[in-house]
Amino acid sequence: MIRISNGIVVDPATDRDGEFDVLIEDGKILDVVPRGLGADGDFERVIDASGCWIIPGLIDLHVHLREPGQEWKETVETGALAALKGGFTSICCMPNTEPAIDSEEVVRYILDKAAQANYSRVLPIGAVTKARVGKEMAPLSELREAGCVAFSDDGDPVYNAGIMRRALEWAKMLDAPISCHEEDKDISCGGCMNESALSTRLGLTGMPKVAEDVMVARDIELARDTGAKVHFCHVSTARSVELIRRAKNDGIPVTAEVTPHHLVLTEDAVRAYDTYAKMSPPLREEEERELLVEGVKDGTLDAIASDHAPHEDDVKKIEFAEAAMGILGLQTSLPLMVSFIEDQVLTRKRAISSLAEAPARAFGLPYGTLRKNAPADIVIVDPQKEWQFEREDVVSKSFNSPFYGRTMKGKVRDVFVQGVLRLENEEVVLGGQCK
Ligand code: DOR
Repeated sequence: MIRISNGIVVDPATDRDGEFDVLIEDGKILDVVPRGLGADGDFERVIDASGCWIIPGLIDLHVHLREPGQEWKETVETGALAALKGGFTSICCMPNTEPAIDSEEVVRYILDKAAQANYSRVLPIGAVTKARVGKEMAPLSELREAGCVAFSDDGDPVYNAGIMRRALEWAKMLDAPISCHEEDKDISCGGCMNESALSTRLGLTGMPKVAEDVMVARDIELARDTGAKVHFCHVSTARSVELIRRAKNDGIPVTAEVTPHHLVLTEDAVRAYDTYAKMSPPLREEEERELLVEGVKDGTLDAIASDHAPHEDDVKKIEFAEAAMGILGLQTSLPLMVSFIEDQVLTRKRAISSLAEAPARAFGLPYGTLRKNAPADIVIVDPQKEWQFEREDVVSKSFNSPFYGRTMKGKVRDVFVQGVLRLENEEVVLGGQCK
């Protein structure tokens, strides 16, 4: 038995926020007890979490691992390591690999790589259509059986509404959500930043907000029609938030995520043509950002997901219009949100919920809580520790982050995955050995 003591437990799923100790046995949460009380006896270890929060292992619904096919950008191993360092004990990986995750073989390949790496848990997301080209439905039952937790053609929408409707009917039967990248590329085509006065001034082609909104509106109707679960990826516009809010009020089974970068940055970040702040969907105006934050506060936007999208400098440190879309996120998401808590933008309960309990609920995963008997995925984070994020901190294979030099608040100290201590005092532990 292991005891984690002297910390502040924050577990929104069980409505706990206070001085509790966490007891772990056989990979599970044995109990959460008032500080210093309960279960005397044979502790294999007592971990002192003084000054720290003890929170459920975080769950990231949106990660690009690039393996198979683009291993120079990231591998399952390096991505799972970045997750561990960032406090994510479960990461859902998107199928825009080469080949795409559209067969049992690719799912098995990724799960094998994750087991070999033995860092955080990797949960594959299967493609909605074969090779993600939108022409023919992928074998969804086979993918679900092999271990996929959701389906998505992320990077692209599923244009054909007939295929989308059929896929939703299958997904409903398989009890898995479809996670939607909502972008009508006939509208956003060729754009590389938000369409605004700034894009005109910078001489860059804009991506209008309505490109996202029209697809969100369509898929709300398809969710209503089929009763299947639709999850909206990286929501970036106020109008989409409003559409999702209304859909939820109407009882339509939709959930949504927003990225930390859309919550903390605006299009201003690309004013100096910084390609490390280029992504799809793009950063928007301040008014939009503020309404995204409101969406998180009232639960319209359930989850905060990193959209960790590693790209090498050869495709990033080039002309803005040509540069690849996407930024790193696994190691910066929690600290950015700890700063939000400290600055009272979000409550501690809401912020931690959106990184643990809410994503678990959106994808129907048995993680994200410190409830008795749950798998012991636990993060000990020092919320007071200030540090400056720099290139040397990155354990991913790529370096595309707009946050270098930023003072972060909150550092992940220890991480348990399924009851095993994998990160201790910020160092990786494997089989009792530092790796
Ligand atoms: O910025 C992005 N990068 N948006 C996407 O939809 C895809 C992702 C990637 O795979 O790089």
